[in-house]
Amino acid sequence: MAPGLATLDLRDAETTSTPSNGASALAEPIDRRLIVHPAADPAFVEQYRRLGAALHQAQRHDGIRSVMIASAVEAEGKTLSATNLALVLSRSFNKRVLLVDGDLRKPAVHELLQIANDVGLSDLLRRPGSRLPAHAVSPTLSVITGGQHEPDPIGLLAGDAAFQFLAETRDDYDWVVVDTPPVMLFPDAGLFAARLDACVMVVRAATTASPVAVQAAAAIGVSRILGVVLNRAEPMDIAGGYGYGQYGYRRRAASRRRAWWRSGAR
Ligand SMILES: Nc1ncnc2c1ncn2[C@@H]1O[C@H](COP(=O)(O)OP(=O)(O)O)[C@@H](O)[C@H]1O
Ligand SMILES: [Mg+2]
Repeated sequence: MAPGLATLDLRDAETTSTPSNGASALAEPIDRRLIVHPAADPAFVEQYRRLGAALHQAQRHDGIRSVMIASAVEAEGKTLSATNLALVLSRSFNKRVLLVDGDLRKPAVHELLQIANDVGLSDLLRRPGSRLPAHAVSPTLSVITGGQHEPDPIGLLAGDAAFQFLAETRDDYDWVVVDTPPVMLFPDAGLFAARLDACVMVVRAATTASPVAVQAAAAIGVSRILGVVLNRAEPMDIAGGYGYGQYGYRRRAASRRRAWWRSGAR
């Protein structure tokens, strides 16, 4: 396990009520699927570092600072990938990162990080100019959760408040990482695509039909896509099986838990 990736230091959210005993907002042990979990699969962690490195390079060359995580349908691994990417950029690359739950239909980042969701993006967009409802999860990672349920988020996401929010946070942070709803089901991701610098597509190996993934990529705009996370792939499907598992990191029953990063879709 790499130094600096051992713990997720959950601090009190700026706008979240602090328990009277001063305890952290963290109620349960961190999720095992997060790269900061002490027992995280090293190969899994390594793939997120590769993704972080690719984005770091894209920032150096093209000035990219805001990125959305998208996929065709649900349960492909967008929320997990967005959260792990935000963690790796903030921890391994020591950047100031804002993770935004842009899935206002089914917000899930707060569940994964086990932080409160009493106020979040939907509330901010309803009340432009109010204080940024950011949870300081670590010294370098802030999180804006989805907020109160919004049955029809298009009005909010298409409005000036969303435009202003994304423009301002892009200036204020080194990276803004936005989790989004499925491209093929809702127009929300398209609205984010028009206002963010780049997109990382997540494709769930073996379940998402390639025409569906291709259609989703076209809907986002292929030129916006930095690369693809092939999630839940078998190592034997990738490069003839010469994954990290071949070099002494193999763990039992971990094979379907990998995410593989491929850049250069554009
Ligand atoms: N590589 C992976 N290994 C283990 N569990 C995963 C992996 N990718 C996703 N999951 C799990 O699958 C479920 C769906 O993932 P999620 O990130 O919520 O998908 P989406 O945001 O695309 O709907 C979650 O329970 C998530 O933790
Ligand atoms: Mg999700």
